[in-house]
Amino acid sequence: TLEVDAANTITKIQPTMFGLFFEDINFAADGGLYAEMIKNRSFEFDKPLMGWEQPNTKRSSLNKESGSATPIKLSENKTNSNFCRVEVNNAKGYSLINEGFRGMGVKKDSKYNLSLKAANQNGGIKKIIIQFIDKDQKVIGETSIVPKSDQWTNYTAQITANQTEAKAKLKLTFEGTGTIDLDMISLFPEDTWKNRKNGLRKDLVQLLYDMKPGFLRFPGGCIVEGRTLSDRYQWKKSVGNVEERKTMMNRWNVEFNHKLTPDYFQSFGLGYFEYFQLSEDIGAEPLPILSCGMACQYNTGELAPIDELDPYVQDALDLIEFANGAVTTTWGKMRSDMGHPKPFNLKYIGVGNEQWGPDYIDRYKVFEKAIKAKYPNIIIVSGSGPSPDGEHFDYAMEELKKLNAELVDEHYYKSPQWFRENAGRYDNYDRKGPKIFAGEYAAQSVSGANPNNRNNWECAFSEAAFMTGLERNAAVVHLTSYAPLMAHEDAWQWTPDMIWFNNLESYGSANYYVQQLFSTNKGTDLLSITKEGKPLTGQNNLYASAVKDADSKEIIIKLVNTATTPQDVNLDLKGAKLGSKGTIINLASSNVQDENTFADPKKISPKQSEYKITKGKQELTLPAYSVTVLKLKMI
Ligand code: AHR
Repeated sequence: TLEVDAANTITKIQPTMFGLFFEDINFAADGGLYAEMIKNRSFEFDKPLMGWEQPNTKRSSLNKESGSATPIKLSENKTNSNFCRVEVNNAKGYSLINEGFRGMGVKKDSKYNLSLKAANQNGGIKKIIIQFIDKDQKVIGETSIVPKSDQWTNYTAQITANQTEAKAKLKLTFEGTGTIDLDMISLFPEDTWKNRKNGLRKDLVQLLYDMKPGFLRFPGGCIVEGRTLSDRYQWKKSVGNVEERKTMMNRWNVEFNHKLTPDYFQSFGLGYFEYFQLSEDIGAEPLPILSCGMACQYNTGELAPIDELDPYVQDALDLIEFANGAVTTTWGKMRSDMGHPKPFNLKYIGVGNEQWGPDYIDRYKVFEKAIKAKYPNIIIVSGSGPSPDGEHFDYAMEELKKLNAELVDEHYYKSPQWFRENAGRYDNYDRKGPKIFAGEYAAQSVSGANPNNRNNWECAFSEAAFMTGLERNAAVVHLTSYAPLMAHEDAWQWTPDMIWFNNLESYGSANYYVQQLFSTNKGTDLLSITKEGKPLTGQNNLYASAVKDADSKEIIIKLVNTATTPQDVNLDLKGAKLGSKGTIINLASSNVQDENTFADPKKISPKQSEYKITKGKQELTLPAYSVTVLKLKMI
């Protein structure tokens, strides 16, 4: 028997309690959420023709003399310096093929919008034929462009695919002979989230929207910091005209245990404006994290000297102006010019990602002083470093307490067992100290980023057990997010991940459904649920938390049974008048190794049924290895 005190609110649940952590890792932005299908669209990768094949210049080809593609650098253009010069010698045609992000996903009868810039030097190129080709080179969609001008001109066209293909490519064939310059060759599905031109992948945003997230943290993660200071994420370079956003190598362009992703670059097509807009679209508070003048401590750890922090601090102040400032301010005008005159109502700003030690604290102090002087109401998120075992973690936390830090970001990637054993982690945290942002966490079936580190059911229900502890401690835990959020099945650097996708499809892992259950049932008021007066932190393999939702007039109880067998539970609810009907939602699987897959994407997903409320105690059976949400209507 578990006792629920429905008469007394322990604390309010923050609307931000369960949110999202987004980082461009695992092709999550370029190659994922950002629906651009052309890789290296403006020839700005370190190898400017990476991603582009020239099929008829191969030695074996009869057409080897048909032409050439040469990258040209314009030194005066600092942001989009390269373009591609194509020389066509053979009237039979010369081709360039873009391979996409591990191919391009095209769907039968769907339309795709192409745009490019071209300068047809002497008018010698009569036509550019643009085709989707499948893996056998068969044409599965075609359109064309007539490049009329010898000056740089924008051209657009639309292609309809006549076959569904996960690994299509885009072939450009040039008819005529002569020289043509090309740049910004871009291709997007017509069907994007909210039908925005050149927007975001609809299926992926839908998965985020369906979580009803309290906040969206962006743009990372380690990419905030960069391997060196010069390749840190600089938000000002991610706004304005997309053509002028300077492409750079992604910090996750690494050999990480098993895979090499040398073709991982950031186009910044998904930049800060788009992140704010996405936050607004999905009803989440925007939570940007900025460089604090320290490069990634796992890489160079390069430091900006304290007396040279001004540009970093100014970026933070200007970002607040970009998000919230009047349209008459410099950065408020930029936001308005980009299509959003209304402020984004930014409330939080993060200083540094996963950093620690005296170097961090020294820099944090400088930011705090400047931000609070100008924007006293902005809540600053500080960090305390990685996994709570390291001594640096404790150091940063102690120092931040002394500084009265408002919200401290804690990260932990641990075993499922750790998550089960730490459901009481926040039970004794100082209620008067800084509030907690559990900004990155995930149970890892084995350690390290490798194919054996799975999104299996044991990881997911162990996180659920831990999350009852986050919820029970809503007095101190204000924001939480699983990490990383997304991964491309053919181009990941980190496992496990909450959402998996390829170029055509996507699915939520079991961990996704755990997050969704908590986020969509977070309630408004925390209640007490105990067994013999104690919170449930794993006694008899049971974990529990309870909330009231004052808006829907429900008592919502979350129960996690990590035992190998079902367990019967009685709920003794005091202080609430219940109606006759409720809802019970079960997330369960009998095999701890089970996981969702592209073939069976909802293998582990919530099953909902009606629950008959009885007089006296409520009885229910918790299946083995299960997460149960019981929603009881009040009258
Ligand atoms: O989520 C993956 C990485 O884990 C993040 O980039 C970093 O903050 C953490 O170390």
